Amino acid sequence: MISMRAARLLFAAVLILLVLNFRQTMPADAVPQSPPTQLAGHNALLMGTNWYPEQWPEQRWESDLRLMEAAHLNVARLAEFAWSRMEPSEGRFDFDWLDRAIRLAEKHHISVVLGTPTAGPPAWLTQRYPETLRVEATGQRVTHGTRAHGSVTSNKYLEFCRRIAEEMAKRFGHDRNVVGWQIDNEYGYGMMSYNDEARRQFQDWLKAKYKTLDSLNEHWTTTYWSQSYDSWEEIPIPIGEHNPGLLMDWQRFVTYAWSSYQQNQIDAIRAQADARQFITGNFMGYGFDPIDHFVITKPLTFVAWDDYVGTGHLDADANGISHDAMRGLKRENIWIIETQPGFVNWSPLNNSLDKGEVRAMAWHDVGHGADEVSYWQWRSALNGQEEIHGTLVGPDGEPEPLLEEVAQAAKEFGELQGAFHDTRVVSDVALLQDYESRWAINWQKHTEKYDQSAILKSYYHALRKISPSIDIVSPDVSLDQYKLVVAPNLCLLPKQRAAHLVEYVNSGGHLVLGPRSGLKDEFNALLTIRQPGYLTAALGGRVEQYYALEKAIPASGSWGSGEASVWAEFLKTTAPDAQVLLRYGRSNGWLDGQPAVVSRTYGGGRITYIGAVLSDALVASAVDWMAKTSGISPAFGSVPDGIEVSRRVGPKGSVFVMINFKNEKQTVMLPRVMKSLLDRRELSQVQLPPYGVAILADQTKP
Ligand code: GLA
Repeated sequence: MISMRAARLLFAAVLILLVLNFRQTMPADAVPQSPPTQLAGHNALLMGTNWYPEQWPEQRWESDLRLMEAAHLNVARLAEFAWSRMEPSEGRFDFDWLDRAIRLAEKHHISVVLGTPTAGPPAWLTQRYPETLRVEATGQRVTHGTRAHGSVTSNKYLEFCRRIAEEMAKRFGHDRNVVGWQIDNEYGYGMMSYNDEARRQFQDWLKAKYKTLDSLNEHWTTTYWSQSYDSWEEIPIPIGEHNPGLLMDWQRFVTYAWSSYQQNQIDAIRAQADARQFITGNFMGYGFDPIDHFVITKPLTFVAWDDYVGTGHLDADANGISHDAMRGLKRENIWIIETQPGFVNWSPLNNSLDKGEVRAMAWHDVGHGADEVSYWQWRSALNGQEEIHGTLVGPDGEPEPLLEEVAQAAKEFGELQGAFHDTRVVSDVALLQDYESRWAINWQKHTEKYDQSAILKSYYHALRKISPSIDIVSPDVSLDQYKLVVAPNLCLLPKQRAAHLVEYVNSGGHLVLGPRSGLKDEFNALLTIRQPGYLTAALGGRVEQYYALEKAIPASGSWGSGEASVWAEFLKTTAPDAQVLLRYGRSNGWLDGQPAVVSRTYGGGRITYIGAVLSDALVASAVDWMAKTSGISPAFGSVPDGIEVSRRVGPKGSVFVMINFKNEKQTVMLPRVMKSLLDRRELSQVQLPPYGVAILADQTKP
């Protein structure tokens, strides 16, 4: 018999061998590293503001930074509109003032993100080189004095952009207090220049893509309306309604142009800067469409976006969708590099968020994967277009009432950062979004009531009840981790994409397609197979015809009874084992009694096609059914309306972020005893005040 001690030693030795062996056999990229949004040597959660020292006398800087530090802010973004101060005349650079501002920030323990100032070129530049200014679709050149007036396709402009980025990086690329870079700001809202230079570049891009005009003419079906092109020079920039193939390629060219514009600056910075300095951009959330964000965010360290409510109040779903879509771009945590300090100045009604709502919003961001939240802006310039936007400090330099609330949230971020260290959002459920499908549907809506965002939101709302997080990702990424994948409007379904989705189903996943799926190929041309195109065989069903609806029609079946509105497709089963889950009631005759939803088990998984825009109650029961058939059970149990629970997962277990979005108190029963981190108590139920927040640690592995 071996002694207890020897047994322990043997056990330890086996364990070490197992670990070593595991390490050796596991590919390096499978070892989860810290999210790139959590900076080495810094708190896992950061809070900051956008500070424009160039707008203020230098004597003022110290008091600003002292106030920021007292409010527990630890990061500031600088310089993204300071080109005329950094390069006051062509080729003459002055970074001394910025250096002094960065040093002073450092003294107050505030790290700096530098923005390249290319969204606001100086007047000397646009006057001397007018070709750097954008030309509108009307043919008119924009005037100086707004922003985003530079032309993304002007080679001259790109030269200047590269040089300012390079000079900034030479000076600050090794600065210990500069943690990273933001390229430009919001990428000119994707606006293009409609001039000969842009048109020539578009034609060259098409030539590189299609090689021959025959190929282009064929894929765009240019025999229609005599659109055939005999030379590349004949191809126009589309303005207004146009050939769908041309429109699709133009929009891809827009993405290409802005990606090249971004890359031009990334290259300039990377050549000079320390690898530890991140490079990001400032994106605008889910609804901002002109650029394919999956493409443009590829070379960035992580995604950052600016999160504004505008009119009204924080909507858990709308804000959640944007967070999840931005997080889904690189499937990694994010930064909220700008957010609303109470109110904005650009909405139809610039109401303020209620007391407590700004703090709730900051924690909502964290729940959805944000590791930094930054308020735009610290203090308004005394003149300029945004004089009366909300701020943290007033024109007199004294704190606004909101600063106290921001300081509270910042303090909490600091105190709880350890709990969020190395945590990420890990989901069982994904929604697929595809910019190209969205463009294709929006260019040919067929009914003006067709609102893709609203359809996505109705699924999101219901899915959020069965899952503490949802990833909103591209249809082309690996979907292995998901038990359920819902694609509400996947219009473009080329062969390869379809094969990828079939593989997902084959290996056990449940794929749910919504209306208008699988109508087109990658050229935005109709497929010669009925919807859902290359997925009809796996589905064992197809779409006979689609109908834009004048009014809602009844629909009923195993998900109960409700309505279809806006859009309805008449489905048909083609395989004996395909099930019809919902049928239309009396309608236009064509749809009466016909299948609205078809589902079939296929390979190891299941594929379901929903051919209509369903009422919320039907979507809710559809989602309950999806949860059951996909083996999903809510991680948190059911919570009252107006409460959202999000989960982040790390090496020590899960952290739940619970927010009360209502301006009234609510009580939530917990599924088991958890540790409430804000008040350090073990709880089995949580009382939340209006806009209240609870952060709950749960050692149970998801
Ligand atoms: C955007 C911009 C900022 C500022 C804010 C105002 O997000 O990036 O420069 O204009 O809006 O809300």
